[in-house]
Amino acid sequence: MRMYDVIEHKRNGGELSDEEIRFFVDGYSSGEIPDYQASALCMAIYYQGMTERETASLTMDMVRSGDVVDLSGIDGVKVDKHSTGGVGDKTSLAVAPIVASLGVRMAKMSGRGLGHTGGTLDKLESIPGLSCDIDGARFEEIVRTVGVAIVGQTGNLVPADKKLYALRDVTATVDSLPLIASSIMSKKIAAGSDKILLDVKCGSGAFMKTVDDAIALAKSMVSIGEHVGRTTVALITDMGRPLGNCIGNALEVSEAVATLRGEGPRDLTDVCVELAGNLLFLAGRGELDACRLLARGQIANGEGLAKLKEMVAAQGGDASVLDDCASRLVEPRLSRELRATRDGHLFSMDTERCGMASVALGAGRARKEDAIDHSAGIVLAKKTGDSLVEGDLLATLFAADEGLLDEGERVFRDALDIRDEPPAAPPLFHARVSCEGVERTDA
Ligand code: URA
Repeated sequence: MRMYDVIEHKRNGGELSDEEIRFFVDGYSSGEIPDYQASALCMAIYYQGMTERETASLTMDMVRSGDVVDLSGIDGVKVDKHSTGGVGDKTSLAVAPIVASLGVRMAKMSGRGLGHTGGTLDKLESIPGLSCDIDGARFEEIVRTVGVAIVGQTGNLVPADKKLYALRDVTATVDSLPLIASSIMSKKIAAGSDKILLDVKCGSGAFMKTVDDAIALAKSMVSIGEHVGRTTVALITDMGRPLGNCIGNALEVSEAVATLRGEGPRDLTDVCVELAGNLLFLAGRGELDACRLLARGQIANGEGLAKLKEMVAAQGGDASVLDDCASRLVEPRLSRELRATRDGHLFSMDTERCGMASVALGAGRARKEDAIDHSAGIVLAKKTGDSLVEGDLLATLFAADEGLLDEGERVFRDALDIRDEPPAAPPLFHARVSCEGVERTDA
């Protein structure tokens, strides 16, 4: 077989055979197929797409390129949750302990922030002493004893995706539906859980800008999961505005803790309850409505927060800082209050730009190797739909120096569209996608 023929086949709109896909994944992983041929195939896939069978085949070949986590030694159903990425999305920090506090085990591998999106590992590492760099045996032990652990991806998990993702990042082929679906699902399948819940973000801060594109991505990932015997459900949730009011690592941990105390913002609390309810449903804890109530109960009785503290301690962190996040977790930084310069309504927020403003303040990375400032970020006082009077506080920015505040302010102000009229109320939930079909929840 020649790589030239595989590229030509896809370029001309053909359906690749399992053998052709395996030839590509094996050859690219081993270094026999060079970057220029792999990028040509990615571009052909970008334009021609892939069938469900091709996407599933690509996914499973990527899974086979490295190690697979074996959670079979841990009793009970193991569930996993994955967000496609957004701004202010700290749901894992609240959802994982809520679910684990009800005895459902959650073995979660998360990522770091890149670009405008934040990453769960960066958020957790703002807790003094906490490590997400935990070996497989200790990971399994924490999941068995505490019920939940959140760690970084182990060394040799889906190496084909690591290589391919880096290539896509520099060849304008990231936002291809079959390539995103296979990239995410290969990592979820290799991470070993029995049931997978996907939070597919949609809107100006997400990869998928429209509900239709988000549903198409969700359908593809659900079909891959079912194809390999892992029950998979996807919720399409809104990322047309940041989730909650805090953007930035320690600030987001603090907001997740407030949510577990029952004092979180309404939108964040509702998304956490919906995700936790769906995970409990997948784990067989009852009807969906009953599972939502169970999840709310773990916030009201404080058991979700107690479980988060247990997990933090097991991963080496100082859990006592969570009792007083404002003074012990978020370190003092210079701050700047941004105020409305006119009356009106906050008509829309370019959420990607809000994320970029947080990166400009020091909370994220421009390049993978950059250091981050865990205490930098943004606390929003107004969000899409709110009415404004000139002089109202819009947001407070936190950074290490005035230059960073200047740049953060410039990017953030650009993200806001203030008009006389209010926008239509944006829905928080758009759809639920499972093997039974698509249920619209925004109608
Ligand atoms: N997240 C991933 O892991 N892969 C993609 O391709 C896009 C988002």
